[in-house]
Amino acid sequence: MSQTRLLPADDTGKDGAAAILRAGGLVAMPTETVYGLAADARSDVAVARIFEAKGRPRFNPLIVHLPDIATARRLVKWDDRAEAVAQAFWPGPLTLVLPLAENAGLSPLVTAGLDSVALRVPAHPLARDLLLRFGGPLAAPSANPSGRVSPTEPAHVMEALDGRIEAVLDGGPCAVGVESTILGLTHDTPRLLRPGGLPAEALAEVLGEMPQPPEAAAGITAPGQMTSHYAPRGRVRLEAIAPEPGETYLGFGPLPAGAEGAMTLSASGDLVEAAARLFHCLHELDRAGAERIAVAPVPDRGLGRAINDRLRRAAAPRGGPESTSYAP
Ligand code: TXA
Ligand code: MG
Repeated sequence: MSQTRLLPADDTGKDGAAAILRAGGLVAMPTETVYGLAADARSDVAVARIFEAKGRPRFNPLIVHLPDIATARRLVKWDDRAEAVAQAFWPGPLTLVLPLAENAGLSPLVTAGLDSVALRVPAHPLARDLLLRFGGPLAAPSANPSGRVSPTEPAHVMEALDGRIEAVLDGGPCAVGVESTILGLTHDTPRLLRPGGLPAEALAEVLGEMPQPPEAAAGITAPGQMTSHYAPRGRVRLEAIAPEPGETYLGFGPLPAGAEGAMTLSASGDLVEAAARLFHCLHELDRAGAERIAVAPVPDRGLGRAINDRLRRAAAPRGGPESTSYAP
């Protein structure tokens, strides 16, 4: 990619940013907490490119940014608790994790294959304006390379991601400066999945109870079972050059001749395409009733590292923490 553009916070800049997003590109957008690396949350390839730009070794689930509460209600199984805290604190530095609705239309890469999704209505006027101009949900993790601190100024994003993303929308410094508080509402007990810009005490006042840290809430359900990563039902064998009899093959690159029911992550061996297709392929293998799955070697560089991390989890013995747990 050529140089990353710094877009001004005027109509031209905002329309430019929306156009980039509609074309499947990446724009760092200001929010009141930190800059987010935004992409169309419905597009597998756009979301795969977020992971590529951040150099994330794993497909962590991402936060979906929305312009208002009404849009949020349509994507999840909304409840009274969600309504109460959303009315009290949205727009603002609060993220809600809720059960994903059927036909929400989000890329499975956004949720890392989970059946829940993290939603947030940001308070920053530029983020809100961009969401309205774009007209859809935006997946946006903090706009820093994996393992680095979150950016609170356009210059931080430019220093770290120049040449890896299309543009930065210049909103100046972020007011809050720490990430949003993440509240889990997928269980009876509200859970504080990440402390952040909104104090837990403020949530407790509205909820009528203090949200529990994930470990304390784990007394109800064993850890690991609480938020299970999607794994296919079939047994998974990795680094398979070719399928053995009775195995369904998930290839990378062109498929070997005659492999029954085989599919490939990317016929051309493209890692962005492979990441974009990964969860779709795993679901497809389930739908096809594959009991034994052989997966081709995937190069362990760039997005391949995240793909391999996910595949190792899918292949791990069932019930073990590696195969099921997601540690926020
Ligand atoms: O303030 C913020 O929240 C910023 C701005 C850009 O909005 N965004 C942000 O995103 O911090 P990110 O990707 O750096 O953090 C997302 C975190 C994940 O690491 C995970 O802890 C949690 O959100 N998360 C997302 N989906 C989840 C889910 N379904 N279940 C549990 N945790 C989830
Ligand atoms: Mg982050």
